Amino acid sequence: MDIISNSFYFKKARFGLIWYLKKFAKLDDSSVILLPELICNSLTEILEMSGFHLSYYKLDSKLNPLIDSINTKLSSMPNIKVIVYVNYFGIPPEIDSLKKKCEERNILLVEDNSHGFGGSSRGVKLGAVGDISISSPRKLYSQAIGGILSLNIVSAQANINKGFIGSAHSFNIDYQKIPVTNKLLHKYRIINSLKNKIRLIQLSFSDQNSPYSFREKKTKLIEFEPAKSLPENYLDWSTIIESRLEGWDIANKFIKSIGLEPLFIKDMQGLCPWAFPAICKDKNQRNKIIQYCYANSLSAFSWPCLPDTQISESAPAFQLWEKLICIPLNKVSIYSMQKINLKINH
Ligand SMILES: Cc1ncc(COP(=O)(O)O)c(C=O)c1O
Repeated sequence: MDIISNSFYFKKARFGLIWYLKKFAKLDDSSVILLPELICNSLTEILEMSGFHLSYYKLDSKLNPLIDSINTKLSSMPNIKVIVYVNYFGIPPEIDSLKKKCEERNILLVEDNSHGFGGSSRGVKLGAVGDISISSPRKLYSQAIGGILSLNIVSAQANINKGFIGSAHSFNIDYQKIPVTNKLLHKYRIINSLKNKIRLIQLSFSDQNSPYSFREKKTKLIEFEPAKSLPENYLDWSTIIESRLEGWDIANKFIKSIGLEPLFIKDMQGLCPWAFPAICKDKNQRNKIIQYCYANSLSAFSWPCLPDTQISESAPAFQLWEKLICIPLNKVSIYSMQKINLKINH
């Protein structure tokens, strides 16, 4: 059975990270959190709001952390106490040297698995690799629980054993029993298809050229504390993995048939991808393809909404944002892609 122990449920993944960092990471006013250059402002904004100082390291063209860039940062900023890496789109990057570096320097390595919950690579569950990890099941299945924090290293787990966690409960995550917040809605395809239509109408009014267009509204309800009890309804996550992998194959065909380059060419077995990323020639081509997708009921999107500093100061992150198109892999999108693929092949 697939179990990750020492985990906590939250409304959103970011709340789990803040809760851990504030309570247990022993950071002071001068501590710095190092993040990858390609990251969502929804995460950086709440970290900054919570008083943390942030800096960014570079990635290679396949979104692996560049250890030289991390070393340069470590030499100029001795106060880096936390390094975050991301399993982009649900695909784990190469982190052997980063993990070693963090161990040598006693730096907390955070695995941001908000795109890849449920996947495994080489027999190891994503989310069980970093010292601690955050996951976001809701991104892969909208009625699933919002966020999970897993404590993987003994020193992080010791906080639980010493009773520092207070009234919060830690759980063993059993992938055959993932909490869902709404028992009924997720079963009805017609509701999902209606929601997709409304979303497409909203999206058609957005300015695709602006890197600020798709920013989330500021979080009103901040609940840093973990859930004290679990919802009553559960879902077997293997059904989600199966469906998203089917979506990945269909998206791969679709992307190739319109002449684009997939970002990853990979054996996806065991993984649970969030979206299918591909690279366009430039922003104009990306926007044109997004419009074509909208016209065919497929809500393709650009990603991520970068933090302000990365828009103004990081040319590589901004240039990648301009070229990156992401294809959603939920059931409604799979259906739309099947229809487009049929049309293209006739
Ligand atoms: C890479 C990454 N990390 C973290 C988050 C935050 O996840 P959540 O919305 O569950 O807090 C997001 C999405 O906003 C993300 O894309």
